Amino acid sequence: MVDHMKIKLNGTEIELPVIEGTENEKAIDISKLRAETGHITLDNGFGNTGSCKSKITFLDGEKGILRYRGYPIEQLADNSSFLEVSYLLNHGELPNKVELEKFEKTVKEPTLPVGICDLLDDFPKTAHPMGVAASAIVALSAFVPRENLDITKIDKDEVLGQLMESISIIAARFFRHRQGKKIIGTDPNLSYVENLYNMMFDEIPSEKVKKALEVLLILHADHEQNCSASAVRVIGSAQTNPYACISGGISALWGALHGGANQAVMEMLQDIQDNGGDYRKALDRAKDKEDPFRLMGFGHRVYKNFDPRAKIIKKACDTVLDQLGVSDPLLDVAKGLEKVALEDPYFVDRKLYPNVDFYSGIIYRALGIPTDMFTVMFAIGRLPGWFAQWRELAEFKGSKIARPRQVYMGENERDYIPMEKR
Ligand code: CMC
Repeated sequence: MVDHMKIKLNGTEIELPVIEGTENEKAIDISKLRAETGHITLDNGFGNTGSCKSKITFLDGEKGILRYRGYPIEQLADNSSFLEVSYLLNHGELPNKVELEKFEKTVKEPTLPVGICDLLDDFPKTAHPMGVAASAIVALSAFVPRENLDITKIDKDEVLGQLMESISIIAARFFRHRQGKKIIGTDPNLSYVENLYNMMFDEIPSEKVKKALEVLLILHADHEQNCSASAVRVIGSAQTNPYACISGGISALWGALHGGANQAVMEMLQDIQDNGGDYRKALDRAKDKEDPFRLMGFGHRVYKNFDPRAKIIKKACDTVLDQLGVSDPLLDVAKGLEKVALEDPYFVDRKLYPNVDFYSGIIYRALGIPTDMFTVMFAIGRLPGWFAQWRELAEFKGSKIARPRQVYMGENERDYIPMEKR
């Protein structure tokens, strides 16, 4: 049964349909609101706005639930591989053996054009790897056949494979280039994650390291309509090619309130440690409304309960450090900070919990990955999710260009003032 919501505006009553998702979340469909009433809605930060219907990822922020295509994130992290999850996000079902092998081949086949390798080698060694990744991914569009830029002709799996392979090579190549180290190519006998690690460190990862990386990439693979996925969809809604859309996603992820938080968390923990380890001071600063400082890695627009990814990562963090025999004082700072924050009324009242970025950096650090590479690792994990979001949009009949309105608050019409009279 279709429900309706009645609203009265200027004495006229109109009915707006209410639609319901498969997990019973309800939305008021306002698509006819302006035509019927002349009014628009205003929603700073889109906290109350659904931008699309999607079948990819479900999350319930109050209950701390995250599922890809219906499968709980915990089960995927325990049992699956990153490539399997990438296929699942893009095709809706877990692959069988043959499908997975075919997908793996599609991901492994592409090589990076020489022009992109030259571009990477020309970047200053001081460049931020996220700027490098965003530029190199959009630059790839210059090296592919023109059909790949035409979304009606494009072979989506082929482009997904090319983008997944390219971002890992781009990240690893720049990582080694800036250290002046020999570049390591891909090895067809290694898995995606093994290749990524080998290209970075010239070393095949142990089973434990490999598992930790698989889990991190799986946890990052999608998160419904977050800032970067929305950026990908907004760009894609203009029928822009996927190279440009994914590059836009990388740029959005770079920000400190989004994926860039993993770098910011580590810098914050290091700063606390360097200044005597008193994490209560950081807590006080975060609560001070006169101070712009925020506790990085805490809070989430949607999760008002534990971020389920943070729970898995915190456990993985202990295991990885233990297995690698690494003892990191920053883990103690992080745990102490988390404990006091979770007991503090400011954080309790606002339902601010650790998010995925709070502990992920400690694992990356234990694996020898430098702080400014953390967000690129996140981007490598998120790429198949961005692509699935782009694909869903591209295949949706009735897709419209994203074009929000505004409430204009500026000057009313006035006459031009000649220069000498200003
Ligand atoms: N430290 C201190 N206060 C905070 C924090 C924080 N980390 N996060 C939110 N608050 C306060 C905020 O000041 C506000 O207080 P008040 O109601 O008194 O004005 C209240 O909590 C609600 O915050 P908000 O900014 O309206 O919430 P939001 O949903 O717009 O922002 C957020 C979500 C993630 C941007 C924010 O919590 C934040 O800045 N966190 C730190 C950055 C971070 O860790 N980002 C990673 C997010 S998860 C991974 C990802 O998205 O990629």
